[in-house]
Amino acid sequence: MDQNELKALVGQAAVKYIEDGMIVGLGTGSTVRYLVDALGERVKNEGLNIIGVTTSNRTTEQATSLGITIKDLDEVDHVDLTIDGADEVDPNFFGIKGGGGALLWEKIVNNASTKNMWIVDESKLVDQLGDFGLPVEVIPFGASHVFSALEAKGYQPEWRMDGDQKYRTDEGNLIIDLRFGKIADLEQLANELIQMVGVVEHGLFLHRVDTVIVGRQDGPEVLGR
Ligand code: A5P
Repeated sequence: MDQNELKALVGQAAVKYIEDGMIVGLGTGSTVRYLVDALGERVKNEGLNIIGVTTSNRTTEQATSLGITIKDLDEVDHVDLTIDGADEVDPNFFGIKGGGGALLWEKIVNNASTKNMWIVDESKLVDQLGDFGLPVEVIPFGASHVFSALEAKGYQPEWRMDGDQKYRTDEGNLIIDLRFGKIADLEQLANELIQMVGVVEHGLFLHRVDTVIVGRQDGPEVLGR
C-alpha cells in the first residue's frame, strides 16, 4: 500500500468510532479527507445522525458538500470525539501539528472534546518529535518582531508562504515554521513559545490524545483506548 492507501485505511477505520447522536470534531488534512468521505457515506447510507464541528474552512466545505450537518463550535456545548491527523507522533501520543496550517482551530476543538483520536500513516511515528519542524501561528501586527525574537533564540524561523505572499490561516494570522531538529524538552519549549507576545498558538500537542490509529501495511493498528 502506498501512503495515500494507508491514509484511506485509517480514515475508514476511524469512522467506525462515530456513533449516532455524537457531536464530532473533524480535523484537517489529507488523512482526514478520507475520514470525512467515509462519514459522508455513513450519513447517506445509514442515516447516521451526527453533528460535525470542523477545524478549518476546507473541512467545512468538504463535509457540507457530502450532506454532513456542521455547526460552529460556539453553537454546541461539548464535542464527544474529535478525529484529526498529525505530522509527527511520539510514543507518548505527543505530536506536532500544523503542516496544513490549521493548528489553532485544531487545538481549540481538541480542547473542547471529551475524547481525541489521531489517524496517521506509519511514516508519522517518531521516537522524538522535531524533525518535521514546528509551526507557530502569530498575529500579523508586529509579526516581524516575533520572527526576529525566534531567530535570536536560534530557532531558524521561516515564513510559511503561499506563492509569493505570506500564508494566511483561516483566522487571518501568519505562520512561522521553526526548524531545529529533535526537541529535547517539549514542555519547556511549549511554555516558552506560548508566552511570547504575538504568538497565538504553536503546533506542539501534548497530553491531548487518547487513541492513535496507525496505518500499517498489514492493516490499521489501534493504540491507546
Ligand atoms: C493541519 O494543520 C495539520 O495539523 C494536519 O492535521 C496534519 O498536517 C496532518 O495532515 P495530513 O493528514 O495531510 O498529513
